Amino acid sequence: MKLLEAIPRRSRGRIVGLDIGSSAIKLVEMETHGDSMRLLKYGVVDLLPDAIVDGEVMDRQLVVESIQNLFESTGVKTRRVVTAMSGRGVIVKKIAMDRMTREEAREAIVWEAEKHVPYDINDVSVDFEILDTDLGPKQMQVLLVAAKRDAVSAHAELVREAGLEPAIVDVAAFAVQNAMERNYEFAPEEFVALLNIGAESTNLNVVHGGVPSFTQDVPSGTGRMVEELQKRTGLSREEAVLQLAGPRDDEGSPAAAVVGAYADEMTTALDRALAYLKTAESVEKIHRLLLSGGGARIPGIAEVFLRARRSEYAVEVADPLRRVECDGAGDDPRPMASMLAVGIGLALRKDARA
Ligand SMILES: Nc1ncnc2c1ncn2[C@@H]1O[C@H](COP(=O)(O)OP(=O)(O)OP(=O)(O)O)[C@@H](O)[C@H]1O
Ligand SMILES: [Mg+2]
Repeated sequence: MKLLEAIPRRSRGRIVGLDIGSSAIKLVEMETHGDSMRLLKYGVVDLLPDAIVDGEVMDRQLVVESIQNLFESTGVKTRRVVTAMSGRGVIVKKIAMDRMTREEAREAIVWEAEKHVPYDINDVSVDFEILDTDLGPKQMQVLLVAAKRDAVSAHAELVREAGLEPAIVDVAAFAVQNAMERNYEFAPEEFVALLNIGAESTNLNVVHGGVPSFTQDVPSGTGRMVEELQKRTGLSREEAVLQLAGPRDDEGSPAAAVVGAYADEMTTALDRALAYLKTAESVEKIHRLLLSGGGARIPGIAEVFLRARRSEYAVEVADPLRRVECDGAGDDPRPMASMLAVGIGLALRKDARA
């Protein structure tokens, strides 16, 4: 699944994932041999809050220079990168269509997409995967991915401006899924909700049997928590960021209240996802919740989710480097592993190797 793909070239088994987030850019270089995965290099560079707003790059030069600095400081030489897009402009949907071959579907998907995408179909990039060829009489189930073509080209152009070659443009939620599936074992019957908590948005992806069953980007994340904390306390932005990241044992503190409100909001989003899945796939429950993204580093956030949910499912902060060999990657990456989830998932894309 991809929104854009260049012609593959030999990459010596090394793949570079570049995650351009609204608050930080993350770079991850991995080497894989069969099941063994090794982190070669990684780096994170923070962006100023107004460099990327609502997914739109406001300060192009700053972002391009930040990407270049990141390559410089980490010493990553590979210029071919796998990147991801996210946000409201990216649509992921499981749909039913008439049963046909992959080749036929390639033509028909555009007309199918028209029914599900709120944009002019001529302005949209579409990809798809046939999930199940036997869905009722003469029907098959297809995973449809669509994004505004303009947005995909602007993204690829930004990457090129930094002197890089965009090999694949993926969807952030799929990258998180890839990172988790390579590091965790999921039972076939399990419905696992992946929540990647970023600064501006949270990528929500309910996964079942290796397939994304429900995928959505919720426009809320750590940025909203910081703003809310500022409103409640009168703290400066910097102070609020520190307070959110600091240890807290007082459940009644403003920081705890803000994180609690966020967990409630996401719980509501998960309830909606579950309501949809109950009708679409007769799912009874979500079994597990795995948290990642910078927001997963908020102290005690898994417990806050457990309280919001009254322990109806297991919640844990995921480690996207759980099965990854990290010796030799420089400073210990594990403390910031959550933030690297998208970059890791991108750098673990099997089809990025030529
Ligand atoms: N230890 C920590 N405690 C609390 N918050 C943290 C911690 N570490 C990082 N963060 C928050 O996580 C955010 C960055 O997370 P991440 O890198 O996943 O976001 P992003 O990818 O830039 O955003 P988006 O995907 O929404 O564009 C930062 O804005 C920061 O406030
Ligand atoms: Mg992000």
